[in-house]
Amino acid sequence: MSVDLLLGLQWGDEGKGKIVDVLTKNYDIIARFQGGPNAGHTLKFDGISHVLHTIPSGIFHPSALNIIGNGVVIDPVIFKGELDKLAPFKIDFAKKLFVSKKAHLILPTHRLLDAASEAAKGKAKIGSTLKGIGPTYMDKTGRNGIRVGDILLNDWKDRYEALRDKHLKMLSHYESQIEFDLEALEAVFFDSLKTLKALPLIDSEDFLHTAQKENKKILAEGAQGSLLDVDFGTYPYVTSSTTTAAGACTGLGIAPNTVGEVYGIFKAYTTRVGSGPFPTELFDEAGETMGRVGQEFGATTGRARRCGWIDLVALKYAIRVNGVTQLMMMKGDVLSGFKSIKVCTGYATKDGVIDHFPFSIEPENVSPVYTELPGWEEDLTQITAEDNFPESFKAYIAYLEKELETPIKIVSVGPDRKQTIFR
Ligand code: GDP
Ligand code: IMO
Ligand code: MG
Repeated sequence: MSVDLLLGLQWGDEGKGKIVDVLTKNYDIIARFQGGPNAGHTLKFDGISHVLHTIPSGIFHPSALNIIGNGVVIDPVIFKGELDKLAPFKIDFAKKLFVSKKAHLILPTHRLLDAASEAAKGKAKIGSTLKGIGPTYMDKTGRNGIRVGDILLNDWKDRYEALRDKHLKMLSHYESQIEFDLEALEAVFFDSLKTLKALPLIDSEDFLHTAQKENKKILAEGAQGSLLDVDFGTYPYVTSSTTTAAGACTGLGIAPNTVGEVYGIFKAYTTRVGSGPFPTELFDEAGETMGRVGQEFGATTGRARRCGWIDLVALKYAIRVNGVTQLMMMKGDVLSGFKSIKVCTGYATKDGVIDHFPFSIEPENVSPVYTELPGWEEDLTQITAEDNFPESFKAYIAYLEKELETPIKIVSVGPDRKQTIFR
C-alpha cells in the first residue's frame, strides 16, 4: 500500500495540523517524519484548541496509530509536557504512540548552543525557535548525536556526558556568554526520559514496511514548509531538515516508489515567522488586517507572523519540488472584506521578469509583479458547500487552480474541523 504525504508549501503554519486531524479518519497510521518542537500544529474541535509540537496530529482519533519517525528530533522535556497536557483526553499512549529508536534527542545543551549561535549572529540571526533544532541536526550529520535507542544502553550516561562536555566547550568559545543552570536543566531532562521510555520504542521503518505489506493506510505528516527546507528553502533562513517530499522517505524509511498522493497545503495569502526574505510581505494596513483577522501569532513561540499576498512563483516551485498531486487552500475566510486581492505571478529582476524561484529572493534581487483579482465581502466561515461561495471567491480558486495546474481539493474556511469543504 502506498503512503500519502501532507506537506506545507510556504514558510510553515499553513494549517497542516488541522488537515491531518480532518483526514485521520481515512488512515490507520499518521507518521511525523522531520522537524521537532519547532513545529506547532493547531487542532480545533468541540470548542477546544490544541497545539501539538512533536506528537502527530492523528493522536485524537480513537484508533489511528501515531508514529514519530527517525527523521524527527525529540526534546524529551517538551515531549513530556505535550503528553501531560493531553491527560484530560485519556489517550492510551502505550497503544497509540510509537517512537523510532533512531530519532535523535535534543539535549539541554543543544538548546543552549542554539541560543548562543543566534545571539552571536546579531542582526543576521535566523530567528530560530530556540528549541535546539539546528545544533541537534548538526550533531546528527556530524555523527555525534544521541538517539532514542541509546537511552536503553548501559553506557548511555557516558555517551550523554561526552556530548554534553563537548557542547560546554563549544559554548565557552562564544564571545557573549549566556547564563544557565545546567544542574537544573539536567534534572528536568533526566526526569522527562522516564516518560519517553514508557512508550513503545520501535524500529519504525520496519513497523511501517510491515504496515504497508498489510495494506494499512499511512499518512506522513510534514512540519515546517517547503520554503524552510534546508536545500530548497531561502537558505540560510531555513530550518535544518528536509521539509519536502524526499524528507518523508529519509525520515520514515519509506521507498520513493511507494509514495501515493502528495497533498500540498497553502494559505490563501502568505505568512512567515523569523528572519529571511519575503517578496510579497506587506507593511501596510492590508498586512496588519491579515495578521489580526488570521490571528497570525506563532503556535510555538507566540511571535507575530509577517503577512503578505500569495506568491505563485514560490508555490509553483514548491509544487514541483514535492510532486504535489492535490492542493488544499486554507484561510480564504481571512481575506473577506478586501476590495481586491493581489497575486504575485512573477519576480522583476535586473534581467527582466522571471517566473522561476531563483538562487536569491532578497529584496535587492527581486520585487513582486502582481495581478489583481476582485475581492469578496461575504463572511465565509459559516459556508458548508462550495456552491454557496461568493462568485469572486470561486473565481479566485479557479484562477489559482489554473495557474498552479493542480486541483484544489480542500478549501478551509475556519480553524475548526467542521469548517472544511471537500471539492
Ligand atoms: P501548522 O503549523 O501548519 O499546523 O499551522 P498552525 O497551527 O501553526 O497555524 C495555522 C493557524 O490557522 C492555526 O491557528 C489554525 O487554528 C488556524 N487555521 C487553520 N485553518 C484555518 C482556516 O481555514 N481559517 C482560519 N481563519 N484559521 C485557520
Ligand atoms: P510548523 O510545523 C513556521 C522557522 C523559524 C525560523 C526558522 C528556523 O508549525 O509549520 P528552527 O527553530 O527550525 O531552527 O528555526 O524556521 N520555523 C517555522 N516557521 N512554522 C514552523 O513549523 C516552523 N519551524 C521553524 O521561525 O525562521
Ligand atoms: Mg505551526
